[in-house]
Amino acid sequence: MKGLLGIEDLTREEVQSILDRARDFQPREERLRKLDLLRGRMIVNLFFEASTRTRTSFEIAAKRLGADTISITAQASSVSKGESLVDTLNTLAAMRPDAIVMRHAASGAPHFLARYLETPIVNAGDGTHEHPTQALLDARTILDRGTPLEGSRVAIIGDIAHSRVARSNVHLLSKFGAKIVLCGPASLLPVELKQIAPGVELTTDMREAIMGADVIMMLRVQLERQHEASFPSGEYFGFYGLRLEHLELAKPNVIVMHPGPINRGREISSEVADSQRSVILNQVENGVAVRMAVLERVLSDARN
Ligand code: NCD
Repeated sequence: MKGLLGIEDLTREEVQSILDRARDFQPREERLRKLDLLRGRMIVNLFFEASTRTRTSFEIAAKRLGADTISITAQASSVSKGESLVDTLNTLAAMRPDAIVMRHAASGAPHFLARYLETPIVNAGDGTHEHPTQALLDARTILDRGTPLEGSRVAIIGDIAHSRVARSNVHLLSKFGAKIVLCGPASLLPVELKQIAPGVELTTDMREAIMGADVIMMLRVQLERQHEASFPSGEYFGFYGLRLEHLELAKPNVIVMHPGPINRGREISSEVADSQRSVILNQVENGVAVRMAVLERVLSDARN
């Protein structure tokens, strides 16, 4: 595996082996030991878009494996001086890092660069396209709760159209035979997603989506990717905000997920976000373990 660009490119077996390896990296004791599996290796994190969780998580993952990391944000790089993406990446690659982790607002940016560079690229989110490590950490979190992926009903609710998290999850969950329901206002619910997974259900009715669900995955309304003049946020919560009463429609042991950042009172109520059913912080915790598994795999393959 040269780099990791998307879940679409992975086989079910490859996904399973990353998820299995991530278990070895989950914290079992209070104090975490630093490993030296990637000692002497250098990973560059290049983030052209805002990020708290993903960037920190990749950095911690690399450090826990003993690698050296540097993180560059677009504001602090020469991109703000007008350098092209290819020139920036070629410059960084000339310093011979072992991998480049990148996030970019343009869908396909890492795929385009991967064709030019020898250095493996790990996609940390490209536009509205894919966010592979998010789907992996989501799957790890579902499995940790004892819910098998095969046959379980996963309702993904919110701004599906602009969500790379939804796309990567549809790829992953459909490889494992989960029943996927995508739900949101019609304008944010693209029918093309049926092409990724023909069995996927689409609905604008939130109650219908949640009925009998094992997993409810909420998405943020990605206003930064919408170009309409105004978005009716108050009205949105009335129709698509997850509230305690909704949970009664789902399976009794339903889990509530959200990739973060959450907007309390917009897509999810505080009562739900802070409830026993919420696994939002487990997702964040698994982010580190899953990214350790991905970095280890990408760097060990790159050496061969
Ligand atoms: C997501 C992203 O950036 O795609 N966040 C994340 O990586 N945890 C989702 C979002 O921004 O809403």
